[in-house]
Order: sequence, then structure tokens, then C-alpha cells
Amino acid sequence: MEEENNLTEILKWHVENGIDETLQAEPHNRLFPSESEEICIKNITKLTSAETKSLLDNPTKTKPSSTLISREETISSAYATATSANSLKALKTAVAEFDGCPLKKTAKNLVFGEGPGEAPLMFIGEAPGAHEDREGRPFIGPAGQLLDHLLSSISFERNDVYITNILPWRPPGNRTPTPAEIIACMPFIERQIELVSPKILVLVGGVAAKALLGSNQGIMRMRGKWLEYSREKEGIETPITTRAILHPAYLLRSPAQKRETWIDLLEIKRKLNDMI
Ligand code: URA
Repeated sequence: MEEENNLTEILKWHVENGIDETLQAEPHNRLFPSESEEICIKNITKLTSAETKSLLDNPTKTKPSSTLISREETISSAYATATSANSLKALKTAVAEFDGCPLKKTAKNLVFGEGPGEAPLMFIGEAPGAHEDREGRPFIGPAGQLLDHLLSSISFERNDVYITNILPWRPPGNRTPTPAEIIACMPFIERQIELVSPKILVLVGGVAAKALLGSNQGIMRMRGKWLEYSREKEGIETPITTRAILHPAYLLRSPAQKRETWIDLLEIKRKLNDMI
């Protein structure tokens, strides 16, 4: 009886921590990754900007997924595939075929961006949660519904804006993405920004803001002011006006902060009106 109670407690603990879905028929020991995962994880660590530039300048061809490839080759092939995608549709196919991020194996579905390809506002969140993973669509769970409300508070509808995430696959149990996962998927989000080319980029939450602005500051310091996301394209810096806002998942836990986000959104709307 005591053992049964213990098992129920363990099960409850898993559910409370977001481990609420069966992903594979066989248990997978995450403490001892398979050989190919281990090599891939070890190899994808933060690149210096010189390394990134050299990879951009010398992209190699994509290797078959079964081959064990180095960090440089993984990132290089991701940049090569991302850059050669000339439409969001082609980019989605390229992401679906990319095997350089281990999250693809545990996720149910790819969650690619959604919205008009030439939207003036582009929202970038962290990573899909359970609802998004199940449906293959970004921001459709409780946090997404709050984002919809926030948008309507500035007279925008979801269909007016482009919504995506830094990672296109759900991290198991909604854990925070690792730097290796972010770096592996970075070429695809950078290309998505290039293709949508929004007037204003809205980074939703600290993970997205830090990843795209290369900042170590917390979201509380980054929000409430105008920022710039900049990428070099054909030798020319192309800055995009950017705002970081609090993540709606955080606002669900701390509703008193909704006012700050509403103020940020009003500023975004005002700025956009000035631009068009
Ligand atoms: N949180 C995110 O950051 N993105 C989603 O798509 C859903 C929840």
C-alpha cells in the first residue's frame, strides 16, 4: 500500500512538473544520450561571431541525417539550407528536414511560424508548449490566448501579425531551451525574420530577447524601451526596430504586470502608425 502511495506521489510530481505526455513506446534514458545525440549535443556550443561569419561565407552541403557531423558542419548546413530557402514555405520544409536539433525526436510536431508573410509586426516567443506541440501551431494554448487578448487591446487580430518561436520543437516538459538548442535553430529564425522583414519585431519573453539581441540582461531591464535587432546582409547592416515584452505565460502567473505589457503594446502601435 505504501509503495502504491509512493508511485502515485511520483506520478503527481511528474504531472506538476509538466511531464504529462508519453512520447515514445520505449523509455529513453536522458542521462545517457545515444551516441549520435551525445556527439551532436557536445558539438553544438556557442559559436563566436567570427565562426558564424566564416560558416556563412563557406556553407557546406547538408549531410545525410545518419552521419555523425561536427558542430561546424551542423551549423553550416543549417545556414546553407536556411539561406537557400526563398519563401516561408520553402523554409518550413527545410526546418522539417533538419536533423541538427535533438528536440525534433521528442516533439510530436514541428511548430513553424504563422501569419501573413509580409506582416508589419512579427512576434517571436520561446518554444512551443504542449498545446502547440499537439496541434503544430504557435501560441494556441493559454499563453497564446492571452496574447490574442493583448493584441485585441490594441485593435489587432492574430491574423494581422506573424507569430513564431525561437525553437520550432517543444522542449520536453516545457523546460527552458538550452543554448545548444537555440544555436542549432538560430539560422532558421534569422531567415524567417529576413523573409517576413517586419517593420517592428516583438520579442516575447527573456529567452527570445536574449537569443536575438545577444544580451545578458533580464527581460525586466530590456522591456519598456526601443531596441534594435541587426543582421548583416550582403555586407550591409539591416537593423529592425525591436521591442521586448513580458511573456504571456509569466503574465498568467503575475497578472499585475499586464498593465506594463499593455503600455508596451500601445507604444508599439504608436510607433507602427508613425512608420506607415
Ligand atoms: N510559449 C511560447 O513561447 N510559444 C508558444 O508557442 C507557446 C507558449
